[in-house]
Amino acid sequence: MNTIVSPSLLSADFLHLEKEIEMINNSKAQWLHIDVMDGVFVPNLSFGFPILEAIRPIIKKPLDVHLMIVEPMKFVDQLAALDVDTMNIHYEVSPHLHRSLTAIRKAGMKAAVTLNPHTPVCLVEDVLEELDMVLLMSVNPGFGGQKFIDHTLEKVAKLRNMIDKRGLKTLIEVDGGVNATTGAKLVAAGADALVAGSYVFGSEDPQQAIEGLYNLKR
Ligand code: DX5
Ligand code: ZN
Repeated sequence: MNTIVSPSLLSADFLHLEKEIEMINNSKAQWLHIDVMDGVFVPNLSFGFPILEAIRPIIKKPLDVHLMIVEPMKFVDQLAALDVDTMNIHYEVSPHLHRSLTAIRKAGMKAAVTLNPHTPVCLVEDVLEELDMVLLMSVNPGFGGQKFIDHTLEKVAKLRNMIDKRGLKTLIEVDGGVNATTGAKLVAAGADALVAGSYVFGSEDPQQAIEGLYNLKR
């Protein structure tokens, strides 16, 4: 199976967003990764609804929205109205995770939980049935262009094992420091989907960079 590639718009050229989105539309990327930050959960701000609403009509790929915010559930309806495909909420801000995941699915979106580098994968074991995807952070969230944390590979393998043993279809996505080298290791360890920001948008031929990741086979 090919790897699902989800280019992170955070690393795009914001002066030419339309051109960047068209590049993604015409690439092998299956999803588009959108990083929303609130300056509280993470020490940075990115973009929110005014920008998302403006660019939504030209995006042809399913939206993979990663919410790095303290109260993600406030925005379920607004995200569903934007026809978001997958809503990723962080484990670290979700005291009632089961309830939140159920609400996301009820709103018509796929439910995903994101784990920071220090959050163990065993913590999602009892909600796996409610999860369409687990997003493992391989950097501390908040910024693009950081170095990949190697320990993520062990987390991917552990989670793969957990999902396969139960015969579930839950996807594993990894976000942070993904490039051709780390991407190959992640897919070998059992990742289904890769987020890539600086590697894609910083490369001379972004579509080829996407295709290289897409061609990694598990
Ligand atoms: C970081 C974001 C990532 C970021 C990845 O907090 O969640 O999606 O854009 O950037 P790279 O691929 O450059 O590490
Ligand atoms: Zn992200």
